Amino acid sequence: MLRGSNVLLCVTGSIAAYKSSFIIRLLVKAGANVQVIMTQASKEFVTPLTLGTLSKNPVLTDFVKNSDAGVWNNHVDLGLWADFILVAPATANTIAKMAHGEADSFLLATYLSAKCPVYVAPAMDLDMYQHASTKDNLFLLEERGNIIIKPKYGELASGLVGEGRLAEPEEILAFLELSLAAGKPLVGKKILVTAGPTHESIDPVRFIGNRSSGKMGFAIAEAIAEQGGEPILIAGPTSLESSAEIKRINVESANEMLAECKNVFSDVDAVIMAAAVADFTPIQKQIQKIKKADSKMSIALKPTEDILLYLGNHKKEQVLVGFAMETENGLENAKKKLKSKNLAFIVYNSLNEKGAGFQHDTNKIVIIDQHNKITNFELKSKQEVANDIIDELIKYF
Ligand code: CTP
Repeated sequence: MLRGSNVLLCVTGSIAAYKSSFIIRLLVKAGANVQVIMTQASKEFVTPLTLGTLSKNPVLTDFVKNSDAGVWNNHVDLGLWADFILVAPATANTIAKMAHGEADSFLLATYLSAKCPVYVAPAMDLDMYQHASTKDNLFLLEERGNIIIKPKYGELASGLVGEGRLAEPEEILAFLELSLAAGKPLVGKKILVTAGPTHESIDPVRFIGNRSSGKMGFAIAEAIAEQGGEPILIAGPTSLESSAEIKRINVESANEMLAECKNVFSDVDAVIMAAAVADFTPIQKQIQKIKKADSKMSIALKPTEDILLYLGNHKKEQVLVGFAMETENGLENAKKKLKSKNLAFIVYNSLNEKGAGFQHDTNKIVIIDQHNKITNFELKSKQEVANDIIDELIKYF
């Protein structure tokens, strides 16, 4: 949900300001672009060097960037750039100023300019938090659509115990994820996605593989997360990276992929089988490296179990989606696989289309559903193709 989003983290002068470094690390790990704004007071608690290094962006505090050259920091542009603002920790002072439209700092001017959602995570002593004016100010902010991430009960810097501790960084991240996902079509849906090739071991140094890069399946898993769903990515050997929010299980062989799919199948709402699973595996996996010989050499193979066929035969409510990778009689073969594997729909891609299939960053697909409705798509980036497939899947929920 946070991947690729622009986050303006506003840090104010509280002892809890040190926690902003952990918040930044979690945001960056989740794939967000983070720009930090600090108030002067917050610099007494944590250094701009720490937050600038962790966020990979110079920290902003002042309106003027270089007074000799007449260069200013544009709070209006920054407000427009942000997908959301997070004020954490938010002191009673900053909350009061936000509630009353004051703009005597760069942080406040940016807040007033921004049109995006604003999250406010208060941190203060318990009596300050309980004070009627703080309560009124928070109420005003909430009434205007700002979202309050409530402080926690616990030991405070004053030594008192009560409500006022900044929510823990992990709690703030979980809150953001949930809040950003609200209203998305795949919220609450767990979806198994397989991706990449499988490697069938011949001996300790050799294997039978295929040309799949895994890019299509990985793009599908990311698209599911963007729509609020929970992807479980079972990936064959690939160098691709997936974002932190995606649960990923790495496997080598068709047999391992089958075992992992069986493990999670009863727990998921849908399966998208984008992996190029090997159809054959060596009967004997040699423990020692096979030595070179002058005579001819052959490797005896046996079929692997068809994972999708197994899932199709054992499915309950799950929506099953398969791929058909064809070089001839594509549509006919794809329709046969749709029926024999008991799928909701199948994504057919022809290897004969320019720019489509393995290794490419683009793909050209045809979706065929159980009623034989055929939808042709243009050649698109694999991210856009993933969105088309997810749009089709959403219709089944
Ligand atoms: N598939 C699978 N397990 C296998 C082989 C394939 O789950 N052992 C899945 C693929 O992930 C894909 C679909 O079945 O979603 C069709 O795969 P494809 O390679 O196009 O066809 P196959 O069924 O293997 O048949 P053929 O190789 O004869 O075309």
